Amino acid sequence: MSSYLEAITTLGYGNMHPGGFSHSIKILSGIPISEKSVVLDIGCGTGRTACYLSKTRGAYVFGLDKSVQMIEKANSRNLREGTDVNFMLGDALDMPFRDEVADIVLIESLLIFLPAEEALKECRRVLKPGGVIIDIEMTANRSLPEYARQQLKTVCGLPKILSLEEYAELYESVGFKKISAVRSNLPGPLDNFKEMLYIDRNRIVSKEKMNPEYVKTLLLYRLLILANRKHLEFGTFIYKKS
Ligand SMILES: C[S@@+](CC[C@H](N)C(=O)[O-])C[C@H]1O[C@@H](n2cnc3c(N)ncnc32)[C@H](O)[C@@H]1O
Repeated sequence: MSSYLEAITTLGYGNMHPGGFSHSIKILSGIPISEKSVVLDIGCGTGRTACYLSKTRGAYVFGLDKSVQMIEKANSRNLREGTDVNFMLGDALDMPFRDEVADIVLIESLLIFLPAEEALKECRRVLKPGGVIIDIEMTANRSLPEYARQQLKTVCGLPKILSLEEYAELYESVGFKKISAVRSNLPGPLDNFKEMLYIDRNRIVSKEKMNPEYVKTLLLYRLLILANRKHLEFGTFIYKKS
């Protein structure tokens, strides 16, 4: 795991994707999810969105993550929130789910860390025909200078940083049909204020002292994002398995 992912795992933030929890709530409000729906939150982190869906929609929610620590934190949240999510340790590239089991696959900042095509094929495998994938990812315009692209990849451990158009092409090539692919600016001060309306009361910060390497990584990440804001965006992709 990259030291960026190790750092955010230690901090236990509940929503480590662009747009934060307020964006998740907004997007999910437009998706029909009921108590009959099977929802897979892949790369669920500390499970905040998974617990939210279990609580508000009564859906059968499964959260999958490759990090033992994330799954431990997600299970603690599940207990604290009195929700009934099945959190599982596993790899998004080889999921422990049978074919065509899910109505909804939710991904909040995962593809960027993975070979995206392979991960999308695996998501398609577990979706029922007509099932919907919802995915929020940071994207980069072609204008992002090459040295900044390399720095971001190194600091966060990313194989590639795709543009919105490249993600859209990938979705089509893997066999998804577009419902929407929406471009948004990276969150600014107003959005950070919005996030304050949704304080995560069940965030668990690890007790051990933060590794100085992680502090350095997070600082570098913030500086790189600030310096390259005009070249970076995020995409919200909603696609159907055709
Ligand atoms: C940026 S975090 C996002 C977490 C969560 N979705 C959120 O929005 O807060 C990315 C998550 O993906 C998980 N992850 C990375 N590679 C994975 C893989 N191959 N399979 C499953 N989870 C993975 C990490 O452990 C981490 O929890």
